[in-house]
Amino acid sequence: FRDSFAPKAVKQNSDSITRFQPRASSFKVAILGAAGGIGQPLALLIKMSPLVSTLHLYDIANVKGVTADLSHCNTPSQVLGFTGAAELPNSLKGVDVVVIPAGVPRKPGMTRDDLFNINANIVKDLVEAVADTCPDAFIHIISNPVNSTVPIAAEVLKQKGVYDPKKLFGVTTLDVVRANTFVAQRKNLKLIDVDVPVVGGHAGITILPLLSKTKPSVSFTDEEVEELTVRIQNAGTEVVEAKAGAGSATLSMAYAAARFVESSLRALDGDTDVYECSYVQSELTELPFFASRIKLGKKGVEAVIPSDLQGLTEYEAKALEALKPELKASIEKGIAFANKQP
Ligand code: NAD
Ligand code: LMR
Repeated sequence: FRDSFAPKAVKQNSDSITRFQPRASSFKVAILGAAGGIGQPLALLIKMSPLVSTLHLYDIANVKGVTADLSHCNTPSQVLGFTGAAELPNSLKGVDVVVIPAGVPRKPGMTRDDLFNINANIVKDLVEAVADTCPDAFIHIISNPVNSTVPIAAEVLKQKGVYDPKKLFGVTTLDVVRANTFVAQRKNLKLIDVDVPVVGGHAGITILPLLSKTKPSVSFTDEEVEELTVRIQNAGTEVVEAKAGAGSATLSMAYAAARFVESSLRALDGDTDVYECSYVQSELTELPFFASRIKLGKKGVEAVIPSDLQGLTEYEAKALEALKPELKASIEKGIAFANKQP
């Protein structure tokens, strides 16, 4: 299970992998928005993890049935359901990792930022509860627009006096998953070997795949770079259009989120060789939040890996400069929202 989530290139030191033995069934995970399109398959994947002892499912609707259904799987973890605001604190008690996919998804013709008005309030309320009940947990934000909801979460945690920037993550794993898939297909590579870092943010041109840093080393024509970059940036919209009003990516997102949860649990469990891309507080650029490769440890972000931004191609360097104004505006919008007077 572990190996299916973590591609080889993410694991940098193969020696430490073979030496590392995870303890079984030790961590508590909560999903907020667990009965939704992402929440349900994500719950299923997390139920399969040997590192999880208890899985808490929270939603404002339909959680009872999902909990009953999932609890019949004969994997070790216990599944408990919580519904409605009154049960939110209990759903967060003693939790090590909180995953937040609560909120509305896009329909064709919408941008992720069009979701801001609804999802900003949802994320604010949920993160307030996290701050009150399990302030030491890793917080994985999936709800869009991630470029703004992560800064909102940071401000809420600051207001509550419990902000630990090392433990707040915007989930951008799906961008990496897509980049790996599309590059492997285009270049005829074995999927398990491919790892493409994706930096910036999680919307349109703020999603910047660094194709020149692809592992294993592979060369692309200018046309391939343009085609792959645009496809990776628009992959969310590709799914939204194919679903034609029935929502956005759920299955690939659940897969990607489960990989990020598994990586976090491995790090919490003492694995010292865990790397993922994530949108975090960062000093890599002049922007306060930026997605890049990070090293995960027991205390969260152990290091932001600077080397990916060094030696960029001219195409990537230009794209990096081009994304900054949009990402900056989304960050500022989130911060302003969280600090506005009620
Ligand atoms: P969905 O509508 O199928 O499910 C959302 C769930 O959230 C529903 O079950 C709903 O009842 C629940 N919910 C709403 N308000 C809530 C609240 N206050 N507390 C708890 N639960 C609440 O949507 P989905 O397809 O699962 O997508 C969820 C979010 O994830 C969207 O904002 C979408 O844009 C985002 N998303 C992000 C990525 C990413 O890469 N980060 C990828 C795909 C989707
Ligand atoms: C995605 O990348 O699939 C998500 O952000 C959902 C969306 O609205 O595209």
